Amino acid sequence: MATAPNRPESLVRSKQRVADHGEVFTPSWLVNDMLDLVKDETERIDSRFLEPACGSGNFLVPVLERKLAAVQARHGRSDFERRHYALFALMCVYGIELLADNAAECRENLLETFSRFLKLEPDDVWRRAASAVLAVNIVQGDALKMTNASGEPITFPEWGYLGRGKYQRRDFGYSNLTERASFQGTLFDAFEEHEIFIPARTYPPMSMQELAA
Ligand SMILES: C[S@@+](CC[C@H](N)C(=O)[O-])C[C@H]1O[C@@H](n2cnc3c(N)ncnc32)[C@H](O)[C@@H]1O
Repeated sequence: MATAPNRPESLVRSKQRVADHGEVFTPSWLVNDMLDLVKDETERIDSRFLEPACGSGNFLVPVLERKLAAVQARHGRSDFERRHYALFALMCVYGIELLADNAAECRENLLETFSRFLKLEPDDVWRRAASAVLAVNIVQGDALKMTNASGEPITFPEWGYLGRGKYQRRDFGYSNLTERASFQGTLFDAFEEHEIFIPARTYPPMSMQELAA
């Protein structure tokens, strides 16, 4: 979350919210120090970041800003590529947040960061595409129970950029994704045949306009 210079960041909204939900926001200097520990990953456009208690985006917004700086450096000369890779950078940022107001604020903060980078008007089709991505990438739910606000298992889209303005989407169950890191197999196992690597749903390639529709 951006703050005015010299004004202390507000890290707590109310004592009640701290007691009920452990809601204490991380100051931006600490966020940046922590992100510097994985600096190379934060500057890679296609590295995927998931914050399971994302609040209003104190980590996810700077992650997106770093990715967008990489987009500018690598694709700044072509408006087409710059826009498509900026959307792809956003697609690689994920969050789970228990409280509806924080989840909405997180989506809004990410959308504003994306829109500022592309200098978008409020009704721009790129903004609508970004909103559609954020609606599925930032989930209101319980990261411990792995369920969304309706009590259903959380799923996340895995986005890919195929080039020439086309994106690929495949959805995976969050519980399967968490098992991947500890998946033990040998070099000769057919990893992709294991259920945790099988998507719950695969979409046909889609353009930014189709995403926005
Ligand atoms: C300590 S705050 C940190 C927020 C943000 N990560 C930051 O560093 O500024 C914890 C956040 O996690 C949320 N939270 C608490 N329990 C949760 C759960 N089981 N699943 C998802 N989010 C949760 C709270 O609502 C709060 O916004």
